[in-house]
Amino acid sequence: MGKKLLTWFDANGRHDLPWRKTNDMYKVYLSETMLQQTQVSRVMEEYYPKFLSRFPTLFLLSRAPLEEVLSLWSGLGYYTRARNLHKTAQITKGVLPKTKQELVELPGIGEYTASAICSFALNLPVAVVDTNIKRVLKRYGALLDASDKCVLEYAQSFLDTNHPKEHNLALMDLGAMLCTPTNPKCDLCPLQEACLGKENPTLYAKKQKKEYISMELFFGINIQNGKIAMTHSTNGMYEKMLLFPQIDPIEENFLGSYKHAYTKYRLDVKLYKTDFVPDDVVWVEIDGFLEGHFPSLVKKGFRFFPK
Ligand code: ADE
Repeated sequence: MGKKLLTWFDANGRHDLPWRKTNDMYKVYLSETMLQQTQVSRVMEEYYPKFLSRFPTLFLLSRAPLEEVLSLWSGLGYYTRARNLHKTAQITKGVLPKTKQELVELPGIGEYTASAICSFALNLPVAVVDTNIKRVLKRYGALLDASDKCVLEYAQSFLDTNHPKEHNLALMDLGAMLCTPTNPKCDLCPLQEACLGKENPTLYAKKQKKEYISMELFFGINIQNGKIAMTHSTNGMYEKMLLFPQIDPIEENFLGSYKHAYTKYRLDVKLYKTDFVPDDVVWVEIDGFLEGHFPSLVKKGFRFFPK
């Protein structure tokens, strides 16, 4: 792969991404955590700078209440990411270990994130394999049905140990920009000569089937004196976040319904006007509600509030 790949990356890579211009482990860790399920543009323009300006170090993050971390994360979804980030900050007291073996022991840091931190922050000779890189390598080697372990070993065998960070980022960008799942631009690819998969590129880019769980949620909307009754969720995925109180399914006072997709859940949300006040009620001003730090699941209900 070597020189041609790095020359292509020099000229075409996404060098302006802020987390690529730092060797601060926390900033790389934060960016990788945000980027796991969120588009680059949303992370770069909104969440990453906002989060870093409030928590410029992992130590400061470790001292913050979880509710504040979750509130900065609101709208990004997959809140387990924020909970784990906070746990890791507390466990490490703000100082991340410098080896992959130790990093993978921490909450929320898996094989990929640990490798990314080692490569992008510490420039260690560690291969990184995300979905883009996996596709590039499977095509390049015409590997059908290769396990993750096998692709990782293959990646490590190609790693340019003199420039591990650039090498990994180059493969990532190649996957995002040229070696795409459909219609890859093989004629522009620096690896085309030796690529074994170029005759039938889609064969190596099969998507895994996703399993979804469908659920109905019944929420009570109780508005009094310009304030709405909300409650802290005790349910796993939204734990400690403010939601509308859940009520028993009823037929009367139906306000509206909407769908919400969240991780593996496909939620069918139904809102009802109610007088119910939960024990731990938090009264929230309706004025400025949409600017508040609530999950999208909640904000989507706003348009059905009775006037
Ligand atoms: N640069 C470093 N890590 C990245 C990622 N996960 N997505 C896009 N660009 C990156």
